[in-house]
Amino acid sequence: MIGEESQIWHISSVGAAYAPVMAALHADSFADPWDREHFSQLLSTPGVFGGIASSAQDADPVGFSLFRMAADECELITIGVVPACRRQGVARALLSAGLQAAQTAGAKAVFLEVAESNTAARAAYDDAGFTAVGRRERYYQTGGGRREAAIVLRRDL
Ligand SMILES: CC(C)(COP(=O)(O)OP(=O)(O)OC[C@H]1O[C@@H](n2cnc3c(N)ncnc32)[C@H](O)[C@@H]1OP(=O)(O)O)[C@@H](O)C(=O)NCCC(=O)NCCS
Repeated sequence: MIGEESQIWHISSVGAAYAPVMAALHADSFADPWDREHFSQLLSTPGVFGGIASSAQDADPVGFSLFRMAADECELITIGVVPACRRQGVARALLSAGLQAAQTAGAKAVFLEVAESNTAARAAYDDAGFTAVGRRERYYQTGGGRREAAIVLRRDL
């Protein structure tokens, strides 16, 4: 569902065969990695679509995104960029391609949840035109029995 050539980053639409690639990229971006089986299940679920970013069509992937359509809404499930390639517009390209694919699939809005303290992600979502529409207290487990609020963001399409 995704296929867009941004100025620098090539965004490819991917299916379940890319579960190991997504799992490896996710492990580079998050402290609690999801395994390839989880990605395989997600990528096989109707309405779920994923994108992989690379500098050229056959180059190593440096970022990924995963979205889920539900009626006329779309949810950003997860997105990550390898640390060495951050602040180079990879997330911007992944979000742009994902939002375009969601709109093409009939979505009127995209929602996501982000940890309140995740300043990089919140800045990237702000850059992509998302605004806060809600807050879920104690939504994320952060270790040591601590919990953190999620901010719910929305972007109309
Ligand atoms: C959040 C994340 C995906 C952003 O990816 P990225 O490719 O570095 O983001 P981009 O380069 O496309 O940034 C786009 C804009 O977002 C903002 N932004 C991104 N990272 C930022 C940071 N660390 N500090 C301040 N602003 C930031 C900037 O406005 C940036 O534009 P600019 O570089 O021209 O100023 C990346 O930091 C990441 O993978 N983090 C770990 C995983 C994660 O938290 N995922 C989101 C879970 S909800």
